[in-house]
Amino acid sequence: MDHMADFIATMPKAELHLHIEGTVAAAKVLELAERNGIDIPFSSEAELLAAQDYGQPALANFLKYHYMCTDVLRTGRDVYEITRDFLDRCVIENVRHVELSFDPQVHIKRGIAFDELIEALNKARRGSAVSTQLVMCMNRERSQDSALEMLDLAARHRADIVGVGLDSFEAGNPPVKFQEFYRRAREEGYRLTAHCDCDQENAVEHARQCIHVLGVERIDHGLHVLDDPQLIADVIERDITLTMCPTWRVSDPEPRRLPALRRMLDLGLRVCVNTDDPEEFASRYMVNTMTEVQRRGGFSAEEMTRFMRYAFEGAWLDDAQKAAFLTELDSHLARHLRTGKEPAA
Ligand code: ADE
Ligand code: ZN
Repeated sequence: MDHMADFIATMPKAELHLHIEGTVAAAKVLELAERNGIDIPFSSEAELLAAQDYGQPALANFLKYHYMCTDVLRTGRDVYEITRDFLDRCVIENVRHVELSFDPQVHIKRGIAFDELIEALNKARRGSAVSTQLVMCMNRERSQDSALEMLDLAARHRADIVGVGLDSFEAGNPPVKFQEFYRRAREEGYRLTAHCDCDQENAVEHARQCIHVLGVERIDHGLHVLDDPQLIADVIERDITLTMCPTWRVSDPEPRRLPALRRMLDLGLRVCVNTDDPEEFASRYMVNTMTEVQRRGGFSAEEMTRFMRYAFEGAWLDDAQKAAFLTELDSHLARHLRTGKEPAA
């Protein structure tokens, strides 16, 4: 492993944009389909992996695949196992803190009750050395009433859920549709984020609504903030963190969004690097994603550390917890710079 790859692998890392339902490995999808007696349109790992080469429209095709895989999750045990496996992977990758999104509406529809879902997530979290927090994500194609019901169900678990988000089919489902949900969530003390996915219609307007109507502290993706100088200014003024996901598909030549990541850093935007749904993109987990972003995007060690600094700073941890992680991160960079150059080829 070269010096830079080792630096990334051993860097203390945080991930703020991660859907637990997107962490089910192809083999596990097949195992759970068999165990739960669910018909899925795939009979081998190879078929599942081939289906991950999403064509256009990318979000709709991705979500179709994503929900086919999510369909195999039917019990608290299933959710526990995938969460445990994901957190085991975080340990290997030195991911020290994760803010883990989950989609309660999807699970409730398939027979996993809200309480059972949280208990399964918590059991896996308790068994792990990784620092974790839960973000309850609403599917934006569903109604605001359904989202408000989730807030009611979450009330008993208030201490376990740090924040709320908005995901899934963005076309025709603008942030403003969830204004009342966000108002109530804020009032109840939840931290606020929402997806503004890439290449969506009205993307700039959606980002504007997230900032000015919903009052989010983070935007998941947030690529199109770059399309409007006023939004760039708003994001800087409000210290909003953009949780970009430079994921790629099998046939992509390199990580997507590299020029945007460069521009965001140059503008001083608080941008971090995330995997989104690591088992559903060729980019997979943090180490691979960050290593390829560094190589193909030509980012320096200091710049790679800056992505991670923004992740820890944008995390919904208290100041002391953030300071401890940031001290470790700074030492990691200092050690890298001290031990010097890449070995001569
Ligand atoms: N649900 C899971 N992953 C998602 C993504 N990247 N965008 C929107 N909804 C999602
Ligand atoms: Zn996402």
